[in-house]
Amino acid sequence: MLPNKYKAVTHEASINKILDAKKKLGKKVFILAHHYQRDEIVEIADAVGDSLKLSKIAAATKSKYIIFCGVHFMAETADIINKGKKVVILPDINAGCPMADMAEIEQVEKTWMQIDNKDFIPVTYINSKAQVKAFCGKNNGYICTSSNADKILHHLFKNNKKVFFLPDKNLGINTANKLGLSKSEIKKKLFLWDGYCPVHMLFKTEQVEKIKQADPEVNILVHPEVPPQVAAKADFMGSTEYIIDTVQKAKKGTKWAIATEVHLVARIARKNPDKHIQLLSSPVCMCSMMDRTSPQHVAYVMESLLQNKIINRIKVEKNTARLANLAIKRMLQIS
Ligand code: 13P
Repeated sequence: MLPNKYKAVTHEASINKILDAKKKLGKKVFILAHHYQRDEIVEIADAVGDSLKLSKIAAATKSKYIIFCGVHFMAETADIINKGKKVVILPDINAGCPMADMAEIEQVEKTWMQIDNKDFIPVTYINSKAQVKAFCGKNNGYICTSSNADKILHHLFKNNKKVFFLPDKNLGINTANKLGLSKSEIKKKLFLWDGYCPVHMLFKTEQVEKIKQADPEVNILVHPEVPPQVAAKADFMGSTEYIIDTVQKAKKGTKWAIATEVHLVARIARKNPDKHIQLLSSPVCMCSMMDRTSPQHVAYVMESLLQNKIINRIKVEKNTARLANLAIKRMLQIS
């Protein structure tokens, strides 16, 4: 819980507190922010990225304290990668991921026992709990992110494996479609968990049709968590990092309708004033979990560090972390 003392501080004063604490803590602290974070958080971060990029940076940083401005599974992943040797802090402990919560380890293990699993390899999207990652590690499986799911699935299909894919059904189907699998091949080769991202589920094919009818020159650019019907009508699909790069590299005057979280789309629009950018949907698709982290939360955890107090440390149990790390390492060998 954020102490009242911090709730009363303005955004501006909180930013000053963060900058001051950052100066005093120096290289001991590193602030990571996911692309879906608020602008004021992105501005004070040392690095910003998608899930894969942030995992790699978390592994490379020499700082003792990692302040992870994102959601719970991201901070867990940073702790797993660092084998508990760094202190990973989640500024708002309640910043979770509803999709990760859709796959509890008990259900996952039960389902795994129910299917004829000898030909299957489990692959979990990074948006999952540490125990689910450990389950994959224990069963010769992999982690994937939205930027490498195609490489991981391609590798496994090439080796005649079937895939137990969780928790995001849309990512599983969209990736299989991208690899050119037919409907019957998908049915045969993939066991798909029924999880989804409630934010990306808000994108609809009618929105694409309406935009294309009004102006066929608008490029539809989507995150792979969108429903497959929407992905099928898109011109481009990829992770948050891919979305940013694609618009940045595009020609002046080009038009884009983007299906992902609103904070990111608004930022892309501001950074690319020479292009026409809009959010694909009319209801605003905002991740309330990503939005939870405020400058006040970051100021609180950083000023606590100055007083040698660690607040909201995310620490994964040792054996769970060891097994989960096996699945992460297998992923990194491929991409
Ligand atoms: P990216 O890896 O593309 O940043 O996606 C993470 C995520 O949680 C999207 O909802």
